[in-house]
Amino acid sequence: MKIAVAKGDGIGPEIMEAVLNIFKANKIDLQYEYVDMGKWVFDKGFSNGMTPEAQATIEELGILFKGPMETPKGKGVKSVNVTARKTWNTYANKRVFQTLHGVDTVFSKAGIPIDITIVRENIEDTYGGIEHMLTHDVALSRRFITRPGSLQVIRYAFEMAQKKGARRITCGHKANIMKLTDGLFLEVFYEVAKEYPDLKADDKIVDDLAMQLVVRPDQFDTIVMTNLQGDIISDLCAGLVGGLGFAPSANIGDHISIFEAVHGTAPDIAGKNIANPTALLLSGLAMLRHLGFRENAAIIENALLYTLEQGVHTGDFGDKSKAAVNTTEFADTIIANFGRVPEQGMKPTLANEPETMAVCRLEKNAMMVSKEEEGEEKIVGVDMFIESIEQPDVIAKRCQHHGGTKFKLLNVSNRGTQVWPTGSKYTNLVNQYNLRFEGLPDEALKQQDIIGLYVSLSADFKVCSLEVLNMWGGKKAYSLAQGQ
Ligand code: NAI
Repeated sequence: MKIAVAKGDGIGPEIMEAVLNIFKANKIDLQYEYVDMGKWVFDKGFSNGMTPEAQATIEELGILFKGPMETPKGKGVKSVNVTARKTWNTYANKRVFQTLHGVDTVFSKAGIPIDITIVRENIEDTYGGIEHMLTHDVALSRRFITRPGSLQVIRYAFEMAQKKGARRITCGHKANIMKLTDGLFLEVFYEVAKEYPDLKADDKIVDDLAMQLVVRPDQFDTIVMTNLQGDIISDLCAGLVGGLGFAPSANIGDHISIFEAVHGTAPDIAGKNIANPTALLLSGLAMLRHLGFRENAAIIENALLYTLEQGVHTGDFGDKSKAAVNTTEFADTIIANFGRVPEQGMKPTLANEPETMAVCRLEKNAMMVSKEEEGEEKIVGVDMFIESIEQPDVIAKRCQHHGGTKFKLLNVSNRGTQVWPTGSKYTNLVNQYNLRFEGLPDEALKQQDIIGLYVSLSADFKVCSLEVLNMWGGKKAYSLAQGQ
């Protein structure tokens, strides 16, 4: 069996070497094809951070084991990590956070065990990176949450939770504010929940979730979230179990899966052979189980847990009164501990035990679906985003006549807050307004009418962008302005 390996940047090559040495010592029958990905590949002029040969190899082998990769700061360069996840549709990012003996935290000291799995949507949300400067002062990011995208990841989360015998699955969201985007994610969550009646499914608003995770993390089991919120909450969970050095991650797709640590390239300690390889090792163990090397994974995991229990630690964690070992010594100690099992209350991981850190494959490909349209679809207006430094009432006066016989100006808003016909003089304004035009009663609006309005308005204003307002059946397919 062969997998693709990308060593990564910064501490990547050091921790990858440590992990592969452990695999080698355990005589795992796995071959590696090293691929060119990362910052140095960007620097060579490959704008997506990987060579075409690397892409072809990964697509052929289906599994990528990768070290962290640096995203060059500055404009125009996309993260190779995000590119890889999106290109190969690794739609579910599974991150497991467990109390590890020997890794002291406030919770382990208080006897509160943590075993949380976060399944984070990995493709959509603001990570589409679709951003535009509407004016010199105003940047816009488009946040895509789709039904098929949500369905894929939520279904994976339920499948995985059921397989691991989870007691609870929670959807983290902000649907009270983002009623359409997060609202859609939450709606799909409860639709899928109906198919898993044995799992207790509930939801939590993300800010409350963050607070409750810090206060009583042991009440949570599996949490499924949208991309950005899931990213932030999973780093919070890493903190609960001892830091980023203990957070493994699997990016699961139907055809290609990527296994990597949650942490980055740690440039501050790169090249010193002092980085903690545990997170990459735990990711590697999930990969081994994914590939069927369950016995090897169990031996290595037991040796790792035993090593941690004995207080062996790299400089980033553990008992500071005991000298830290370096990356190579840490890996060598694990190798020396093959055959040992943790003693201090930790249940030994048996070769045939159900997967804990591991990932699960879906039985069949998640189907892309589109929901049937609800009732008649009707254009009822348009939001025109314009640039202006004038006051709202002046703008309203200047643009009303552009509505002509088809549209009337309903309201003007600034950053989502209504400022005309009613508003407050205390609302802060930026140089970009939304003019919401509604069709006049009994007017059947067409796309051409919207273009006509655009052309007319552009005689007086710089139009930055527009969004069509649709009604589906009796339901508005758009949000209202604050104060509307
Ligand atoms: P980071 O995770 O690299 O470092 C944050 C802090 O944690 C640093 O103090 C670092 O020394 C420490 N740390 C991280 N991993 C450690 C380990 N294994 N052992 C001991 N200490 C460890 O995050 P930062 O500094 O925000 O990002 C650095 C670079 O990594 C950026 O270019 C970023 O884009 C990239 N990155 C890549 C990721 C990936 O490849 N999946 C994920 C996150 C960041």
